[in-house]
Amino acid sequence: MLENTILLDVLNHKEVPRPPVWLMRQAGRILPEYREVRGSLSGFKALVQNPELASLVTVQPVDRLGVDAAILFSDILVIPECMGLDYELIEKKGPVFPKTIKSESDIDNLLSGAEAAEKLDYVFQAIEQTNARLEKRVPLIGFSGAPWTLMCYMIEGSGSKTFSKAKAMLYRQPQLAHKLLDKLSTTIAAYLKLKIKAGVHVVQIFDSWAGVLNKELYKEFCIPYLLKILKELNDEVPTILFAKGAYFSLSDLNYCGSTALGIDWTLSMQHVRQAIGDHKVLQGNLDPCTLYGSPETIASNVQKLVGEAGRNHIVNLGHGVYPDTPLENVISFVKTVQAIQY
Ligand code: CP3
Repeated sequence: MLENTILLDVLNHKEVPRPPVWLMRQAGRILPEYREVRGSLSGFKALVQNPELASLVTVQPVDRLGVDAAILFSDILVIPECMGLDYELIEKKGPVFPKTIKSESDIDNLLSGAEAAEKLDYVFQAIEQTNARLEKRVPLIGFSGAPWTLMCYMIEGSGSKTFSKAKAMLYRQPQLAHKLLDKLSTTIAAYLKLKIKAGVHVVQIFDSWAGVLNKELYKEFCIPYLLKILKELNDEVPTILFAKGAYFSLSDLNYCGSTALGIDWTLSMQHVRQAIGDHKVLQGNLDPCTLYGSPETIASNVQKLVGEAGRNHIVNLGHGVYPDTPLENVISFVKTVQAIQY
């Protein structure tokens, strides 16, 4: 039994005295102790692939910020890698794939399913070591990228404002896109099941580039695969689905079978509640830039958010915390939420 079950309680629709709180991207560059560990290594991947150090930086935000959950330090790009597409993380540029998907044979050559996912032993070891370090204080969240977001990087080969090469495939060669998305979803499902087996208590799926699509494209190329992954997981643990920028697909996302929906900061929680009702657990959605404001500004925005979201709510930002956010403001945010009494 965990000491702090408030996140799991909300996800299981139990009564809670206040909303739980954690931050997307809490394990990383906002913490000086992260930068110290990171600086001692040759690069980002050396940290991702080292279970001892990955577990160390996963627990840092729990110690320093007092958040109600840990999220495993890792990256969504481990999936393309285990399927056979290596990535690098270039400082100030972001992820780069030396080899990208250009043809059907490139897709055929990708490993998939359990055969691919089993290669990520360092992730499963990091989960075990993190739970040992956490000593049952808080639950551990595991995650994966969604098929579409991973496809974006595998086709484009790097970040992009438009992901127009990946989108081009949806229009020019839709059957190839489906083939790739299907292989990705089989692998993601196998990977998340192995993560659950290794000990994560909750799973979050990040569809970070949902916002470059529209309702029709999202319905054809994303929803069926999200449904398939969530069905495979079979409610073994609670799930959070975060599709950034997919305001046009809220009602479709609501029926994908996740326990909770992550909401980005562009939507008002009041609007989301009206659209999908009071029962669904919602996560989010404070603008990450709120944390550049004063403690009073942070507190008033938190109050407004909690008022609009009502019960069945996990407080979080509407996307990852920015690296230059003052640490004292992050701490003040967490304390403000934890002082709430419903
Ligand atoms: O949330 C957490 O604290 C857990 C760790 C985590 C990382 N990446 C560590 C990381 C998580 C959940 C991710 C997910 C991820 N990775 C996403 C989805 C979430 C989102 O923000 O939409 C995406 C799109 C990626 C791909 C990725 N990885 C990019 C674009 C970058 C470079 C830009 C950036 O954010 O720094 C990374 C690198 C990365 N992943 C870093 C960290 C801490 C920075 C590496 C460093 O310099 O130390």
